[in-house]
Amino acid sequence: MSNLKNKNILVGISGGIAAYKVPDLVRRLRKKGAEVRIIMTELAKSFVTPLVLQAISGYPVLQNQNGIIIDRNQKESFIQHIDLGKWADLILLVPATADLLARINIGMANDLLTATCLASCKRIAVVPSMNTQMYQASTTQKNINELRKRGILIWGPNDGEQICGEYGFGRMLEPIQIINLISNLFQYDQDMKGIRVAITAGPTQEKFDSIRFLSNYSSGKMGFAIAQAASERGAKVTLISGPVHLETPPCVKRIDVINSLEMYEEVKKIVENQDIFIGCAAVSDYKPERQYLEEKFKSNLKKIKLTLVKNIDIIRSVGKMIKNRPYTVGFAAEINSEDLISNAHVKKINKNLDLICANNISLKNHGFHTEGNSLYLIWSKERVDFLPYDLKIRISHQLLSKVLLDYEKKNRR
Ligand code: PMT
Repeated sequence: MSNLKNKNILVGISGGIAAYKVPDLVRRLRKKGAEVRIIMTELAKSFVTPLVLQAISGYPVLQNQNGIIIDRNQKESFIQHIDLGKWADLILLVPATADLLARINIGMANDLLTATCLASCKRIAVVPSMNTQMYQASTTQKNINELRKRGILIWGPNDGEQICGEYGFGRMLEPIQIINLISNLFQYDQDMKGIRVAITAGPTQEKFDSIRFLSNYSSGKMGFAIAQAASERGAKVTLISGPVHLETPPCVKRIDVINSLEMYEEVKKIVENQDIFIGCAAVSDYKPERQYLEEKFKSNLKKIKLTLVKNIDIIRSVGKMIKNRPYTVGFAAEINSEDLISNAHVKKINKNLDLICANNISLKNHGFHTEGNSLYLIWSKERVDFLPYDLKIRISHQLLSKVLLDYEKKNRR
C-alpha cells in the first residue's frame, strides 16, 4: 500500500515557469491516495490556470483576491491560513521561486501562501526552481541555508539546460523525484502519534565566576535530531536544552536551561507526564563547589584551587522513579572502544535504564559536534544492536523504531 494514502498535502505554487509541471505532480499524488489542496500566488496563475488544478485536485484552488482571502465554496467559518496549516501533513512549495524563498525566510505573511507557512508548525518542503544565476546568488543561498537550519526540507534543484538557455543548477525536480522524496518522508508514518517524549540535549554550563564556566563540546545536534525525528512521527515532544546554537525543530516544545540544576528542575516538572524520556544531554558530572558570581578570578594568580562537587544525576532520578516512570533511554559517551559496551552497560544498570545508547566519541566524525554518528544500543549484556554510521537524523529514526518496539512490548501504551 502507498504510504501517501490519506496523507494531506498542501501544495503551494509560486510564479515560475516550472509551474506547468504541477498538474502532473498533483495527478500522481492523488493516484497514490493523497488528499491535495492547492494555494497559488498571483503570479503562479500566469503559468498554470486554477481551473486545471481544480479539475485535477478535485478542490477549488485557494488564492488571494484584492488582499482579502476568499474561498467562494467555503461556507463555514474557516480561518484559511491557520486551518490549512493544521490540516496539512506536509506543505510542499513547488515550484519555489527565489522571491518565495526570501519571503518565507524573513517571515512575511503578505499572501495566503506565506501566511499559511508562517502559521503552521507542520513539515515544509521547498522545491526550488529558478534561473541558475538567481539560484547561485549569495542572497538566495543564504535564504536556503537559513531555511534548512530551521528544519525546512530543501529538495533539489537539478542541474541541466534551463528554459532561458543557460546551463546549471536551478531546474525543478521532476514530479517522480518529488513523489519519491515525499514517500520517503512518510515511511515512518505517524507511528508515535499521541506518545509524549521528553528529550534532554546539549551541554550544561556550570559557572565558577561571573564570566567563566565548566562545560563540554556537545552541540545539541544528536538530541535535536531525535526531537525532530520523534516530532515527524507524530510524538508530542518536549526538548530541554542546554546552551546551543540550533533552531528548534518544527512542532517541538523547547525549554532552555543553562546548568544541570536547572535541567534537573525542568525535567522534574514534566517527567511524570511523559511516556518516553531520552537523556542525550552531556550533563556536567561536576560543578564548582563555590560560585564567585559577583567576582572574577584575578589573572595574575599563579595557582587557583577549584573544588568540584557532584551534580545530581538527572537520568538516574528518572530511571529510579517509583510512580509514573517513563520508558527511559540514556546515552553514554565512551572513549575506550574495548570496554565501550561493558562501561555503558554498567551505566545502564546503575541508572536503571531500559536502554543505553553508546557512542564512541574517539572515532573521527562521531559524537560531539558532528553531523553523523553510530550507536551501540545496549538492551542487556546479551543483546546489543549496532546502528552503523549515518546522519544524526537518520540514526535517530532508526533508534526510535527500535525504542518504539520495545516500549510497545512492555505494554506501556
Ligand atoms: O550534542 P552533540 O554534539 O550532537 O553530541 C552528542 C553526544 C556525544 C553529546 C551524545 O551522543 C551523548 O553521548 N550524550 C551523552 C553524553 C554523556 O553525558 O554521557 P555520560 O556517560 O556522561 O552520561 C550517561 C547518561 O547520564 C546520559 O544519558 C546523560 O544525559 C546522563 N546524565 C549524566 C550526568 C548527570 N549529572 N545527569 C545525567 O542525566
